[in-house]
Amino acid sequence: MFEIVNREEMAQGTIVLNEIDAPRIARKAKPGQFVILQANEKGERIPLTMADVDPEKGTITIIYMIVGKSTKVFGSMQVGENYYAVIGPLGKATHIEKRGKVVCVGGGTGIAVLHPITRALKEAGNEVTTILGSRNKDLLILEDKMTSASHHLHICTDDGSRGHHGFVTDVLKDILAKEKIDLVVAIGPVPMMKFVSMITKEKGVETLVSLNPIMVDGTGMCGGCRVSVGGTTKFACVDGPEFDGHAVDYDELSKRLTAYQADEKISLEECKQ
Ligand code: FES
Repeated sequence: MFEIVNREEMAQGTIVLNEIDAPRIARKAKPGQFVILQANEKGERIPLTMADVDPEKGTITIIYMIVGKSTKVFGSMQVGENYYAVIGPLGKATHIEKRGKVVCVGGGTGIAVLHPITRALKEAGNEVTTILGSRNKDLLILEDKMTSASHHLHICTDDGSRGHHGFVTDVLKDILAKEKIDLVVAIGPVPMMKFVSMITKEKGVETLVSLNPIMVDGTGMCGGCRVSVGGTTKFACVDGPEFDGHAVDYDELSKRLTAYQADEKISLEECKQ
């Protein structure tokens, strides 16, 4: 069993952090890898990229937004309660090396996924500039951790309640106009990763994105997580979750992510009754 040893609510309770006792995963996990969690025996299998690991304490940290029935169940679990299953670490780890100047772009709960990658890139000797975006100041997460994981930090909100009034892409364009950047890592909503990749492609800057498609087994058997990258089919669970941002078919990914929206809505309504 995988006990919740710490639980925090963020963004007015819409985003939840769980630190979970999972020593074997914590010892092996690398930045960029994910786990699949089940709250109970019959529960849906939900893939989440780890926001942090503590190998000494034997814990992993996940951060998720409550959007459907399963994340609502996750969010209702308290310290001392157990996840039925936590499987991982899964997927390929981020390739961390000294590249020079790196820009990390995070949006929404993608910031949680970006956190260990940003920290590792800084530790590897890169000069790291981070751009964080959210709809408003209350939905911004991990500002303190991202500040210490970066050399320079920019904040953007859609409504202007904090930092730059506008999108992360506005700030990214400014940076790319002024200096030579060696690598961009973008993790967040699909439209954000799509537009970041369009901008960096024009400038010829290598870009890494982390995809979170629908997954079932997480081991390359079911095909549920297939994405088109550079015209070929890849399975995000074993070939990713990170891919060349310039080669991903974002429109197909968006379509596949909404395939079960109607069923998810019914399921969430049933769980409210
Ligand atoms: Fe089944 Fe990737 S989740 S193949």
